[in-house]
Amino acid sequence: MPAALSTEQIISRTADFVRDKFLGEGSGHDWEHIRRVWHTSRALAATLPAADPLVTELAALLHDVADWKFHAGDEEAGPRAARTWLLGLRVDEAIIRRVETIIREISFKGLGVPTPMSTPEGEVVQDADRLDAIGAIGVARAFAYGGHKGRPLHDPAIAPVVHDSFESYKKNTAPTLNHFYEKLLHLRERLHTPAARQLAQERHQFLETFLTQFLREWEGADLAEL
Ligand code: ADP
Ligand code: NI
Repeated sequence: MPAALSTEQIISRTADFVRDKFLGEGSGHDWEHIRRVWHTSRALAATLPAADPLVTELAALLHDVADWKFHAGDEEAGPRAARTWLLGLRVDEAIIRRVETIIREISFKGLGVPTPMSTPEGEVVQDADRLDAIGAIGVARAFAYGGHKGRPLHDPAIAPVVHDSFESYKKNTAPTLNHFYEKLLHLRERLHTPAARQLAQERHQFLETFLTQFLREWEGADLAEL
């Protein structure tokens, strides 16, 4: 039997695998998103002694590997794909289980649906994923996703909805601006780690600034000042 891989080899092979799989993906789930979540997770984990670095990095790299949104709503597709990959690297069963659990728990499922994370590594990766959904990058990703789905930017006649079930959140086809009120503006309050909360301050402020300016231009309020 070949010698077991080192921690560094497991991480670098997983990064190469995910990079190859996601390069050029256009819906906001591209490799660069995963790279950012990976690096942010690493930085957050460094502030949290309880978080195991290997579990954190593997979960960050594999968290979107088979997102339910792109697999006919199959919520087990992600954990299954991660398990298959990690088994191929002969990673310990206990580590595989911890990574699977994080992938299972991480997704936002609607404002009215609690999504607690059961481990410190999960808290770190969910925080990193959510930090990438706010700030300037978050704005860009929301409109990239909306464009991918053919949604309008905004429609003042369609009010934001608090989704109380994952089923209703999944069926949502609202204009992209609604997503800010249905999810993005609430993420700051749902972060777990102090370091992520610190990073979220500026990013959340940017969302507020963006919305104010967007609505000002939409309504032509600046024209009134000519
Ligand atoms: P999470 O990683 O929290 O589970 P998702 O995978 O649902 O988030 O979302 C990935 C990216 O796509 C995020 O930037 C998110 O804000 C964006 N997104 C998801 N759903 C919508 C939507 N209905 N309209 C606009 N952007 C969306
Ligand atoms: Ni993600």
